[in-house]
Amino acid sequence: MENINIVKGDITFPPRKVWFKTFGCQMNYHDTERMLALLTGLNFTKTELREEADLVLFNTCAIRGLANEKFYSQLGEIKHLKAKNPALAVGAAGCVSQIEGNELLKKYKHLDFAFGTDVIDQISEIVYRFYAGESKFFINAWDKSSNYSIETKITHNDPRAFVNIIKGCNNFCTYCIVPFTRGREISRKIKEIVEDVKKLVNEQGIREITLLGQNVNSFGKENDESIAQLIHQLDKIDELKLIRYTSSHPYNVSDELIKTHGSSKKLALHLHLPVQSGSDSVLTRMKRRHTRQHYLDILKKLREANPEIVLSSDIIVGFPNETEEEYQDTLRLLDEAKFDFIYAYKYSSRPGTKAADIEDSLPEEVKKKRLVDLQKYQLDVQTVIRQGLIGKIVSGLVEEARTKDGVKKWVVRTSCFRIVHFEPENPEVDYKFHWVDLELLSATQLSFQGKMVKDHGKW
Ligand code: SAH
Ligand code: SF4
Ligand code: F3S
Repeated sequence: MENINIVKGDITFPPRKVWFKTFGCQMNYHDTERMLALLTGLNFTKTELREEADLVLFNTCAIRGLANEKFYSQLGEIKHLKAKNPALAVGAAGCVSQIEGNELLKKYKHLDFAFGTDVIDQISEIVYRFYAGESKFFINAWDKSSNYSIETKITHNDPRAFVNIIKGCNNFCTYCIVPFTRGREISRKIKEIVEDVKKLVNEQGIREITLLGQNVNSFGKENDESIAQLIHQLDKIDELKLIRYTSSHPYNVSDELIKTHGSSKKLALHLHLPVQSGSDSVLTRMKRRHTRQHYLDILKKLREANPEIVLSSDIIVGFPNETEEEYQDTLRLLDEAKFDFIYAYKYSSRPGTKAADIEDSLPEEVKKKRLVDLQKYQLDVQTVIRQGLIGKIVSGLVEEARTKDGVKKWVVRTSCFRIVHFEPENPEVDYKFHWVDLELLSATQLSFQGKMVKDHGKW
């Protein structure tokens, strides 16, 4: 690397290394990438080695107790690094920092600064302040501007990119901390997003985008726009090949959006649609604003709009006072919904949320057992689905090669979000980022083995 200093204000920034540790959802990973891109302006490059870092930044997640604890323990470990290298700067960003940054600074003496989720675009100013001699400072202001306007920043050379379209969440599901860590909903304008995506496609070779937000289905409300309209506009960008969006809330899935799954040539053949529970009484206590039947109707309409669509979901077991019957209703929903996969979680009480005030008489062991049993139940459901797919042709993007026991295989992520491995006839050919068609030969619970039947070339 060239040893060129950057001068900002009255401070000289020599080349330095930043090590990021990111917890949580795709939004956090995307924010990390954004901060990395912005920090290049202060002469920082990324390192994978914590030991050689000049700046350690944690991008934290508060969704469940476990996420917080993983962060606390890793932050604790940094103390020894800082003892060895007093010049090391240590900062905390993200959702934990947004709601408890002050406490973190008090408790962890080696933490230099903390900042929240809505000021990440100020990362350079924040780091500048540290090098200007300020320490133990905390910023968690909300961006009060009436429109959300950004340009996507990417630092990788993968043809796929995340594009933020809306931030915040107004839903206040009773178990969830996100509305407190990410603030109120605010959307970008369609026009800006389309220009942004055109640039990514034409200047940076992006072929797949994932439209990102905590609640993307309420995108555009304040501007009289909708995610269906956005997808319709993005469909017209020639070189863009695939569009995904996440996270979706069933309450806001409009008929217009469902129809788009049939009409769009670019929407992926997959939708992740968290249901959380199959019991109407639990859904009411969660304030999900949809019933079990309403949710199942959406799945039916989506499958009518596009018979190829593959669906997945999130489930929470052990919500306060969940009865055996309510839990059984969720198992029965799995039978009916036929999800390709689910992410299942044991309810974790989040201080500050409505559900945290409920007196809960459900024993911890019951919650644990329900989680294990539900995961096993779903694996049986998805094994049957997957066995039924053998012989089918699927398309996807080759992600990487893996060699195990001397056998080289390529890993493909399909449009329908499945993972398929194939062994190349010629191990010398580089298939990375090729679009390929595969015949499914066999299935395990989580992936497939396939045979490449057509190589469409580099994306
Ligand atoms: N905005 C997304 C969800 C973000 S959180 C959406 O509404 O779909 C991702 C998942 O974490 C949720 O779908 C839920 O299943 C789980 N989750 C959220 N809060 C939780 C809690 N307090 N305990 C356990 N799981 C939780
Ligand atoms: Fe949390 Fe509900 Fe908002 Fe999703 S929709 S982020 S679960 S409050
Ligand atoms: Fe976690 Fe914040 Fe995402 S709480 S799940 S990192 S929005």
